[in-house]
Formats: sequence, C-alpha cells, structure tokens
Amino acid sequence: MADWSKIEALPATKLEQLFADDADRLSRLSLGVAGIHFDFSKTHLTMDAITAFEQLARETDLAGRREAMFTGSHVNVTEDRPVEHTAERGEGLPDSVARAGAYHARMRALIDAIESDALGPVRHILHVGIGGSALGPHLLVDALGREDKRYDVAIVSNVDGIALEDVFERFDPAATLLVVASKTFTTTETMMNAESVIAWMTEHGVEDPYGRVVALTASPDKATEWGVDETRVLPFSEGVGGRYSLWSSIGFPAALALGWDAFEQLLDGAAEMDRHFRLSALHENAPALAAFADLYYTQVRHAETRAPFAYDERLRLLPSYLQQLEMESNGKGVTIEGKPVGRPTAAITWGGVGTDAQHAVFQLLHQGTHLIPVEFIAVIEAGDTLDEGHHKQLLLNAFAQGGALMKGKQVDDPARSYSGDRPSSTLLLDQCDPRTLGALIAFYEHRVFVNGVLLNINSFDQFGVELGKEMAKEAAKGGGDFDPSTNDLIKRAFG
Ligand code: F6P
Repeated sequence: MADWSKIEALPATKLEQLFADDADRLSRLSLGVAGIHFDFSKTHLTMDAITAFEQLARETDLAGRREAMFTGSHVNVTEDRPVEHTAERGEGLPDSVARAGAYHARMRALIDAIESDALGPVRHILHVGIGGSALGPHLLVDALGREDKRYDVAIVSNVDGIALEDVFERFDPAATLLVVASKTFTTTETMMNAESVIAWMTEHGVEDPYGRVVALTASPDKATEWGVDETRVLPFSEGVGGRYSLWSSIGFPAALALGWDAFEQLLDGAAEMDRHFRLSALHENAPALAAFADLYYTQVRHAETRAPFAYDERLRLLPSYLQQLEMESNGKGVTIEGKPVGRPTAAITWGGVGTDAQHAVFQLLHQGTHLIPVEFIAVIEAGDTLDEGHHKQLLLNAFAQGGALMKGKQVDDPARSYSGDRPSSTLLLDQCDPRTLGALIAFYEHRVFVNGVLLNINSFDQFGVELGKEMAKEAAKGGGDFDPSTNDLIKRAFG
C-alpha cells in the first residue's frame, strides 16, 4: 500500500520563503533536456517533497512499471495489451520497434508516391479524424507548418457539417487528398465526415474519389471494406493509444506537409526525452518532477485544475492537445485492481494562449479564490520576423506573470492587493522545431504516466467515453431509455 502520509504532512511554506531558505533552489529545481529548459522552482516542490515522492515511487514500483511500459508488458491491464507509442520512436521492445519501423517505411513510400504525383495532383490535404486522430496531427501542422507550406492542410473533427462546408468552400475537389484517420475505423463522426467528403468529390466530377483516399488506422480490414485500396491503408499497432498516436501513421498529414525529415526529427526528439525519462534519477527527471508537482497540488493543496498557457502562437493548440492527453488518460475513478481510487485523480486541464489570456482569465489566477498551478510554455527563438520587438514583449510577459503570481503585492486597498504565493512552472524551448516539439510532447506523455503510476490507475484506457456514444447511437435509431428531460430535448429538436 502506498503511504501518502509524509506527502500530506509537507509544510505549506511560501514560495518566497523557499527561495530565501535555499540559495540553490533555482539550480536544484531547473534542468535542461532536449532543447527545453524546465523551471519548477516557482512550484512548492522542496527537496523534502521530492524525497517523499521518491519514496512513494518506490512503494508504487514506478521504476518497474516504467520498464514494463518500455519493454512491452501489458501495462494497459483493462485491455490486456502493451502500450507501444515509445516503440514508434525506436524506444521499446525490439519486435514493436521493428513493426513500427516497417509501418513508417510504408508511410514514407506513400508520401514519396504522392510527391511524384502517382495519385494525381494534390494541393489540399483534408484530414478527417477526431480526438487523438486529430489533435496530434493538428498541433504538429499548426506549430511547424507555418513557413514553407507544401500543402494546404485542413483537419476536420466535428460532426457539425459547418466544419466541412468551410473547407469545401476553399478546397479544389480535384486536387484534394482525403485522409481518413481512425484507429477503430468505426467512429461515427469520422465516418460520417469521410462519406460527406466522398459525396462532395463525386458531385464535383472526381471520377474515382476512393482513389484519392489514404486511411490511417489500426483496423486495416475495416478501411479496405470501406473502399480504400490496401496500398493506401497505413496501419499502426493496436498498442498505440489514440491520444499517443501522432508518432504513428496518424502523423501522416504532418509528415506529408512538413516533409519526412521533419517527421523523423520529431521522433528523434521524443526518443531523447524517452531516454531521459527512462534513465535519469527521479530528482533530475523532468517528467517525474512535473508529476510530483502535479500530485502535490491535487493531493495536498486540493487544486482541482491546472492551466498551461502557450506563450507562442505556434503552440496555441497545445492546451487542447493536453486536455485529451491528461484528462482522458488520468480522469479515472478506480485503481488498476478495479477498486475505488479514494483520492482525486487528474486535475482538470484548461489553459490558453498568452498574452490573450492575460486580458481575459488571469484576473482569477492572480486574485481568485482557487489555487491553480499555472504552466508557461514559451520559445526563445522568435517565430515572427517583425522588427518591433513583439517576441521580446511576449516572453517578458510570460516571465513577468510567473513572477507576479509568486510575489503578489500588498497595499492598503484589499481590492488592489495580490496574495502572491501562487505557483507556476516554466518550460522554455530553445526553438519551435520538430525535434524540440517531439521532446515536449513526449515529456507530457511521461508526466501523465508518472501521475498514473503514483495514483495506481490505468492511464491507457478510456471507457468513460463509451456510454454517451452508445446512447447517442440508440437515440439515432429512435430508441434509448432516456429520462424525461432528455426525451423532451429530443422531441423539441426532432418532433
Ligand atoms: O471517444 C474517445 C476516443 O476513443 C479517443 O480515445 C480517440 O482518440 C477518439 O475517440 C477517436 O477514435 P478513433 O481513432 O478510433 O476514431
């Protein structure tokens, strides 16, 4: 049994006091990995807290479970399978790494074929997918594809037809490649969107619309049954979870739009973070330290949310990506043994983009009654070419906000006072390039894993999403055992 008592008994010393007490605090609580500077010094982590978490990690066998993940044990216990996303970047069981390599080779060959016009002209890539089959590729294309755009890429996830119609207005059906991304190849939204794209192509005279489709899936048979030729089906392993899948063929639109070299660099950056996570002692291990801070706030200080803010337009989709990664992975109520977990699990992840968020939600962060650990993600190398110092302003704002949250300010008027002692961490990337982004995303994956192990939950299933889907399917068939309120809403909308 894991003993949380030492952690729960940690004193709530103020941040400024922690800095005053330890001249080495900054160096002890900051580290550089794979082109990212991690600064956890403005969290309430202390050496005593880290020691207590290291003890908890021993009691929960973090080292053993980490090795089990990297070596293909069935750590996804409820679905009785291994997790293979690290194998996609070359870190895992040799068989899984070899299989991922073969799938990547297939992906690369298809990219080469498309680039040599084997499928006819392609100027537009219309990727349909949802959740993990959209958020990852969307983040990659948006973050890395701003300059030197080879293709116009649209990622459509919502079943609301407005999303597709917006794309139809600007894409040429004859020059559009439809990419259908679905691990299961059964997801209602994705399949409905895919059918509508085929209908749009057909209506606009595309002779063989299915000949313009690439399928990304762990269920290749379903894709061929749906009409995609086997040569354009890019499989990936069942062991690659949806929200961990951008490294697999799900990353296809990014690899096509950004180029294969960029995709390989992304994998290399992630692999560097994998090795750091696997081999470093916990007190100098970025994902572990971040998870310790997460758990300190959720378990000891009862924080219910955490808020990452991307101080860079290139990373504006990161908060949404993290919402799925963190909440779908660790928003659980039972342990891996199926018992009630008995303590809070994942914090609610929300956040936004700086500096916009400062003028909208930061009021609550500075003076509200909730304790919300904030995370600033910024990039040293500017993404813009304007001479007027925009990037400097951006970075200085990020740093000043973190400083202000910690320092606070006391004046005679309570309405104008700031309590201070509000925690934040900062992730400062040297560049926003594929390699660094790969490392950053892998950092978040491993942080989620450490949280999951210390809470003794399975971070790799997501049964919580099923009930609502099932009930929507029943309702679509005109059935469903609904309550009076839900029945009334259905009646109002459809008579
Ligand atoms: O409903 C949640 C979910 O299963 C996610 O876990 C997944 O990323 C998404 O739906 C899409 O699933 P698929 O890739 O099978 O279409």
